[in-house]
Amino acid sequence: MTANLSSPLVVAIDGPAGAGKSTVAARVAARFGLLNLESGAMYRAFALKAIQTDSDLDDREELGRLAERTRIRLLPAPLGNRVFLDDVEVTKRIREPDVTAAASRVSVHPAIRQWMVSMQRQLGASSGIVMEGRDIGTKVFPDAQVKIFLDAAAEVRGQRRYQQNGPGALPAESVLEQLRERDRRDRTRAESPLQPASDAVIIDSTDLSLEQVVARVEAIVSERLGAGD
Ligand code: C5P
Repeated sequence: MTANLSSPLVVAIDGPAGAGKSTVAARVAARFGLLNLESGAMYRAFALKAIQTDSDLDDREELGRLAERTRIRLLPAPLGNRVFLDDVEVTKRIREPDVTAAASRVSVHPAIRQWMVSMQRQLGASSGIVMEGRDIGTKVFPDAQVKIFLDAAAEVRGQRRYQQNGPGALPAESVLEQLRERDRRDRTRAESPLQPASDAVIIDSTDLSLEQVVARVEAIVSERLGAGD
């Protein structure tokens, strides 16, 4: 990875669901004064629109037309992003299981991905950012100065997600099953499958605490900032 700090700092954090990307991204963004942008929230917002309009999640043409009448906005907040779909706040709604499953289905379509990538590049054009997702280091910002691929064993990721969901939500086995299904779709799709960029630092958080992961990422960012002096 070569430090190129003549342009705003971009920290790309990619990895599968439940690896801890959002929390790590929020902490690192706060520490270095960067905007924190969750690209997955944009796919989720579009998936919600598809659900609301009863669209066929596998019909790329129908979804392409739907995208033309959809407006998605992310508003960075101290903990994660506030998300607006056609000017209505959907921050909480997009975390529900039906939207989660639909997001990984609408995200396989190349035209939807191109639209998302261009919005994401615009968001990152003018200031330093931490953006997390699946294809940030490989596709959205291939020249990002810092690329992290955050991974963990599926069982551990499932357990973390289950605990985040809180009591009364889906049982642990269902959470793990849905997470594996999403992983499979994200890793095997033809367009921008989930995979580490060749120059990403891979961190396996299976046996690491959140504090340890944050410390590693912060050390990598500090080192890159130092290299750009
Ligand atoms: O990160 P999050 O779990 O919110 O992402 C929801 C879904 O959106 C993912 O399972 C994936 O299918 C899709 N996604 C994507 N590319 C991104 C971010 C998310 O395909 N950069």
